[in-house]
Amino acid sequence: MANSKYEYVKSFEVEDEIVLPHVIVVRLHARDYLRFCKAHELRRPYDEEALDLMNSCAEFVQRKYPDILFSYGFNDEYSFVFKKKTKFYERRASKIFSLITSCFTSVFVDKWKEFLSGRELKYPPSFSGQVIVCATVDVLQHYLAWRQHECYIANQYSACFWALVSHGRTEKEAEDILKDTKKQEQNEMLHQQFNINYNNLPKIFRWGSCVLLMEVEAIVKYDKDGCPVKRLKKQISTVHSQDIARRTFWNQKPSLVKELGSFVEDIKRIDKDYIKYFQSEAKLMPYTWAVIRIDGCHFHKFADVHKFEKPNDEQALKLMNECAVGVLDEFREVIFSYGVSDEYSFILKRSSHLQRTNPSDIVSSVVSFFTSMYVMKWKAFFPLTDLVCQPSFDGRVVCYPSTEILRDYLSWRQVDCHINNQYNTCFWMLVKSGKSRSDAQQILKGTQSQEKMELLANNFGIDYNTIGEMLRLGSSAFWEEENGCSKIVVQHCNIIDDGFWGAHPCILA
Ligand code: GTP
Ligand code: MG
Repeated sequence: MANSKYEYVKSFEVEDEIVLPHVIVVRLHARDYLRFCKAHELRRPYDEEALDLMNSCAEFVQRKYPDILFSYGFNDEYSFVFKKKTKFYERRASKIFSLITSCFTSVFVDKWKEFLSGRELKYPPSFSGQVIVCATVDVLQHYLAWRQHECYIANQYSACFWALVSHGRTEKEAEDILKDTKKQEQNEMLHQQFNINYNNLPKIFRWGSCVLLMEVEAIVKYDKDGCPVKRLKKQISTVHSQDIARRTFWNQKPSLVKELGSFVEDIKRIDKDYIKYFQSEAKLMPYTWAVIRIDGCHFHKFADVHKFEKPNDEQALKLMNECAVGVLDEFREVIFSYGVSDEYSFILKRSSHLQRTNPSDIVSSVVSFFTSMYVMKWKAFFPLTDLVCQPSFDGRVVCYPSTEILRDYLSWRQVDCHINNQYNTCFWMLVKSGKSRSDAQQILKGTQSQEKMELLANNFGIDYNTIGEMLRLGSSAFWEEENGCSKIVVQHCNIIDDGFWGAHPCILA
């Protein structure tokens, strides 16, 4: 099988590099947080443990990716500001926001028990993320001012709403009472009806939280005369500040000023055009097949750390399949998915309403949900292995204009599965038989498929065609009608030939 026949599909992938001098900000927020709060009985109007968990996830992300200098969050959202000259993921937008969202989700699930002990995670939490591109430091300043203003507005509303509910109003009544009320009226309501002074509520709630990466001077040792030897050390700290977009806050942080520039003047009024810009995003091409492809980040290392079987770990592949099934169940617009190794492709219905929403939203939501499932289901597949580092995935969406090209895309992935699996099977058989890795590489260099089949048969008595179908063909997860009801099935079949598609005409209808 020659892969070149299908490789042309790569040309549909669009370049999304964010060029310098633009500053990259990633903003993420929880999907359907209200439902999540209710299901997990989070305290209202705020649950400090949940906020602490969010902050801890942001600190983790910032520690893991030192190119993030500053982050700001409140309620269910966080924004991460990268240093201006970052080369993170070659500045490719979809890789950046999907990976950060995935990493955050992974830690959120992993640390849940630490912060909300006694409360079981009832379903996989997920976040949606996007990149905000700031052309100048002034745009960044407006962005931060806007988010902190939203924090204030949202939390004041929330304080009133839950005060009304806790005093006997229904949620609908509280909503009606608060409709169109102004800041001042809400303040008075809190004060007069409920005896609450908004300004006395915790800062974390009113102002949100900032995570800063700062260089501080620290004593590393003492020299022979007993004098301290100092070095600059990077330190992460979380603070709550009232005015993150003011000069008094920003310009006093040398690391922020050095990497991003200083704020020239304070913002008197947040420009509506800026807000419109922050909320705008291009849509996906209509009437095309949109494919979201996710891929495990540094899975060679993740596989090593968790002692995955080489070249294929059946449990790891089954875990990937289980997560894909979860995605199909959660996102009903996904009609077919195909996975191999640490990657999965999800095809959206051509008429999908999701295609009319933001591409970042779709990609990040799928990546985040998949990651969440992966961490939650880990123990079911690896009962004896602890998750020692958090898995994360990146994602992208590509639109294919015709069914024929979409089929070529899937063929490309399945041919890739075959080529990699055949190579890896030979490679690891040679290594397990005593050859060094470089010798095994040398032996396999330039060999064709047939030669590899012969190598396996002659040297190891293995008939390649009898190796498990999941390993040779990858996995397809899709909805199927069975006895009048629909269910998600996982099959390992040839999706290159017409046979499968002829037998399942509804999938790509
Ligand atoms: P990036 O995707 O670029 O971050 O790198 P990566 O390390 O994830 O590599 P890539 O996605 O190109 O390839 C997936 C890698 O995951 C493989 O090369 C393997 O090292 C590892 N992997 C995936 N599945 C298995 C498995 O079942 N067993 C073992 N041992 N390794 C696996
Ligand atoms: Mg990978």
